[in-house]
Amino acid sequence: MENKIIAVAPMQGYTDAPFRHFHSAIYDGAGDMYCSPFIRVEHGEIRRRDLRDITSEFNSGMNLLPQIIFRDLDEFRRLVEAVAGAGYGKIDLNMGCPFPPQVKKGRGAGMILNPAELKRIVSAVNSYQEIHFSVKMRLGVTSPDEFRGVVPLLNEMRLEHVTVHPRVAAQQYGGELYMAQYEELRDALSHPVIYNGDIISPADINAALSHGDGAMIGRGILARPSIIAEWREGREWNDSERLEKILQLHAGIFDHYEATLCGDAQILMKIKPFWDYLEPEIGHKSFKLIKKATSVAKYQSAVATITD
Ligand SMILES: Cc1cc2nc3c(=O)[nH]c(=O)nc-3n(C[C@H](O)[C@H](O)[C@H](O)COP(=O)(O)O)c2cc1C
Repeated sequence: MENKIIAVAPMQGYTDAPFRHFHSAIYDGAGDMYCSPFIRVEHGEIRRRDLRDITSEFNSGMNLLPQIIFRDLDEFRRLVEAVAGAGYGKIDLNMGCPFPPQVKKGRGAGMILNPAELKRIVSAVNSYQEIHFSVKMRLGVTSPDEFRGVVPLLNEMRLEHVTVHPRVAAQQYGGELYMAQYEELRDALSHPVIYNGDIISPADINAALSHGDGAMIGRGILARPSIIAEWREGREWNDSERLEKILQLHAGIFDHYEATLCGDAQILMKIKPFWDYLEPEIGHKSFKLIKKATSVAKYQSAVATITD
């Protein structure tokens, strides 16, 4: 990787197509790459709404990396064919999802504990010559040494990069970052490694880049959507600069949902999570009013209190 990449992480329920589009537009192409939340097979079918997310016109002109989650070669093939059929030549493989129902079935981080299945995936990856693959993973399911069992397989795979979150699945999204094991994995891999975990300020991006060939930012984007723009400018924005852009980002996404969804309940269900990580930016009072709003009219009044 010639230039270090700054990527926006996939987050189910948050970084779907409208968020990615308006984030990139309002913060001037902030992320070099946006990764889609995982596309999955559910009840034997590929989820339609997952495919809609990557085929939305909001993705045009942006560097979107679609991600899939799979338990075996059959799911892998079906998902790859569907994503390739949607016109994509690159696919990220989820080997990090920590949710127990998925892990137990061998999906996400569960794949780290199933080298036999992973071996079959390696052959398949290497047979799809026209598709560029990448992996996003954790260090293990319960122990941060478990990655060792899959390093040779990962090195056999034709991969563009491997994104590593230095936790185990059992930790979910909190607790210690296992940096020694992260460095061991990074050094053992023959692929470029993107660091992912707890990047919450522009200065954290510099630290992350010192650990790898790129930085991928998850919750930091939701809590401080300007984080990459500030880093690129080499200057931290003040409160009102940050807030002004947050409100523009919100307006873009809200207007889209209001124009395309039917009824207050649907609109509120889709838009309220926008604020989940933003309480420190908008204050407790507005945050509570937004969460409590039971109609779009009340919601809009609640949002208006942010600038009161
Ligand atoms: C609500 C939520 C949804 C997530 N969905 C996905 C997903 O679909 N695919 C994936 O690879 N990681 C997913 N993640 C993990 C993030 O991409 C990222 O690896 C993790 O949050 C650690 O990075 P951070 O500390 O910058 O947030 C999700 C995380 C959160 C909090």
